[in-house]
Amino acid sequence: MIKNLIVFGTRPEAIKMAPVVKEFLKYPDIFHTKVCVTAQHREMLDQVLDFFEIKPDFDLDLMKPHQNLYSLSSSIILGLKPILETFKPDYVYVHGDTTTTMASSIAAFYSGSNICHIEAGLRTFNMQSPFPEEMNRSVTGVVSNIHFSPTETSKNNLLRENKLKDSIIVTGNTVIDALMFSVNKVKNLNYQDTEIEHLKRILDAEKKLILVTGHRRENHGAGFVRICEALKEIAVDNPQTQIIYPVHLNPNVHGPVYRLLSEIDNIQLIAPLSYPAFVWLMEKSYLIVTDSGGVQEEAPSLGKPVLVMRDTTERPEAVEAGTVILVGTNKDKIVDEANKLLNDAFAYKTMSKLHNPYGDGMASQRIVNYIKSILKS
Ligand code: UD1
Ligand code: UDP
Repeated sequence: MIKNLIVFGTRPEAIKMAPVVKEFLKYPDIFHTKVCVTAQHREMLDQVLDFFEIKPDFDLDLMKPHQNLYSLSSSIILGLKPILETFKPDYVYVHGDTTTTMASSIAAFYSGSNICHIEAGLRTFNMQSPFPEEMNRSVTGVVSNIHFSPTETSKNNLLRENKLKDSIIVTGNTVIDALMFSVNKVKNLNYQDTEIEHLKRILDAEKKLILVTGHRRENHGAGFVRICEALKEIAVDNPQTQIIYPVHLNPNVHGPVYRLLSEIDNIQLIAPLSYPAFVWLMEKSYLIVTDSGGVQEEAPSLGKPVLVMRDTTERPEAVEAGTVILVGTNKDKIVDEANKLLNDAFAYKTMSKLHNPYGDGMASQRIVNYIKSILKS
């Protein structure tokens, strides 16, 4: 029996690892699979665990208000030590580029386990942007034995770093597996969701919906002030729009956003949504404005144009296809691009193409099949 330990800690990792967990659990005769959450996020992680009905075997319960990178990284490494020493996994699976990803992969390396990096090879080649994620994924890449890359572009990034060709497997991004699971579940006539019912009550069908999310560390401070000023101007200049913004719980985001945007009539600030409610709202939206990595991947599959409030992206595929535009945190650029999409039907239509550069919903199956194939050989 092969022992798997799947480790994650934040909302996006949980969303993208949930389909992998479910796929491994289909084969209890081959794999003894355990889930460990660091709980780098607490409430936002638990929302995802509830929706996907995942009960972790280990919960390090590490989140602290205003946590910092030093203490979080060291607590993850120390917290994983006894689990790795007692369970002795053959394979440890980590995802993406958070502090949980980087610190867990280092702990797994110390333990001698094989390390599988899911969503491997995303790069901006700028260590400061996104910070600290570019470092996190690069370090994880160094210690990983198997790299599950979502796209050919990410595979090529790893080849440029001299990773062995045979260690890189292109699978698509598991976020599309999660997205399809969620869309199908919500479509089921028996599905009931109090958050979606609440959203139906606050949505104004006469107005164009702009959905906003944001949290990037490099945008904290002046960047978020400019973002809020831009959103305010868009809302005031376009009374026929409604902006809904589920605000990230990071105090560096929550603080300025509520301080600067609470009083605008057509801006609604709400708590982070559960995954199905957020997906439902993405489908209802006219335009998405975000600095999120995951949302950049999901939106093209739903045919929604995205303005990305970052200067760089490790996800160039949708930018190249013309459905995502990088606007940084420049107030005028955000306002100009949003106004163009709100008022120019041709520009909007050109950006609203439905396409799937990030996956086809089969990524988790490819990952599990690959591990099964190694066992046979
Ligand atoms: C983290 C990741 C980032 C990822 C993002 C996804 C790092 C360094 N950052 O950023 O890569 O894109 O998650 O959202 O790994 N908080 C809560 N409840 C929660 C979650 C967060 O209260 O459920 C608050 C806490 O005060 C916490 C703070 O947010 O200390 C910051 O959380 P942290 O994980 O350090 O940073 P994020 O900005 O969430
Ligand atoms: N998301 C969610 N609820 C929200 C906002 C976002 O479930 O209120 C989902 C979104 O669909 C995507 C993921 O969270 O899958 C993105 O997480 P986040 O932006 O926090 O992190 P990133 O992807 O930038 O690392």
